[in-house]
Amino acid sequence: MRETERRAVEAYTDRLGQEPEIVASAPGRVNLIGEHTDYNGGFVLPCAVDRRVAVAAGQGGDELFSENFGPSRRSEAHDGSWADYPRGVVWAFEGSGNEIGAFRAAFAGDVPPGAGLSSSAAIEAATALALGRLFGIELSRKDFALLCQRAENEYVGVPSGIMDQYASLLCEAGAALLVDCRSLEAESVPLDLASEGLTLLVCDTGVERGLADTGYAERREQCESAARTLGVEELRDADEGDLDRLSGVELRRARHIITENARVLEAVRTLREDDFAAFGRLMYESHRSMREDFEISIPELDTFVEVAKEAEAPGARLTGAGFGGCAIAIVDAGDVEDLSESVRQNFARRGFREPEFYEFFPAAGAEVVTSHDGRKRA
Ligand code: GLA
Repeated sequence: MRETERRAVEAYTDRLGQEPEIVASAPGRVNLIGEHTDYNGGFVLPCAVDRRVAVAAGQGGDELFSENFGPSRRSEAHDGSWADYPRGVVWAFEGSGNEIGAFRAAFAGDVPPGAGLSSSAAIEAATALALGRLFGIELSRKDFALLCQRAENEYVGVPSGIMDQYASLLCEAGAALLVDCRSLEAESVPLDLASEGLTLLVCDTGVERGLADTGYAERREQCESAARTLGVEELRDADEGDLDRLSGVELRRARHIITENARVLEAVRTLREDDFAAFGRLMYESHRSMREDFEISIPELDTFVEVAKEAEAPGARLTGAGFGGCAIAIVDAGDVEDLSESVRQNFARRGFREPEFYEFFPAAGAEVVTSHDGRKRA
């Protein structure tokens, strides 16, 4: 068992006074390339990180307990707290005709919340897998991901795409996940950074972003409006030749989406050839496109990417929704300390908050860790 999973079991046993029947866990993610393309029917390339949310659960009761956020109740109404994620998953199960009986659950995790590393998708994915097993509901990983997305969109009220839930549920260790967000086909792409002496460095700017109160929904509307102007169903269906029919904001948003989709497919090709230099160049281009055309970067994220470029890191870009949160870089393992220090100094000089750094490895997707099948429903 991983440490987070042991902590969830301990929290369950201490707080809820019994042994859990099931333990499941699910990872956060970083997106390597393909930003804001998911809700445009396009391509994304996330990988799961070695930070997880674990849940220990058992039938009976009404308690939801989080080691990080404290106690709550499943039966209470939507209250804007962390508990809305598990409640939303229950709501989505029941909305699709799967009854969820009484249960209690304890959560523990080490995905930094609010940093754009998808701690919310990790809570949803771990809850969905645990409840599915606890109540004998057999769904494919893809259907679990769609169910979690429904919880997030319709219960929590955040209009996110499918990337985060897919990444948390379908990623494999040592690999990135190429997702075609229209057909929902997904495919693992080997991401063997270590054998090339490289590592994935994540810089958390500490600038919190809640998707609900940023320009996320606005970006989504602008993309939809550009698609309407072009007379296509989604920007996935447009190509660079269409751009001269757009202007202003619609042009910039569409140009990012169209070129970003192409970059994802190109990035997959470079990864298959272990060509991290070419992969890294695509990351820098992606960042420029997000800064200039999609306008979702902030000075902190730009500073990280500039410092990485000056230090000749193979690639760097913001990751996730933008407006704050994290940036990533592919870095020679031996350069991590120097790069982090020089980013810290640059941040201090510009009066930014002190950033945090994480080195991540492409980790396994969601898993049921232990289960006792005795109480499964028919
Ligand atoms: C957030 C959303 C995802 C995706 C990214 C941007 O993480 O939850 O669905 O749209 O932003 O790529």
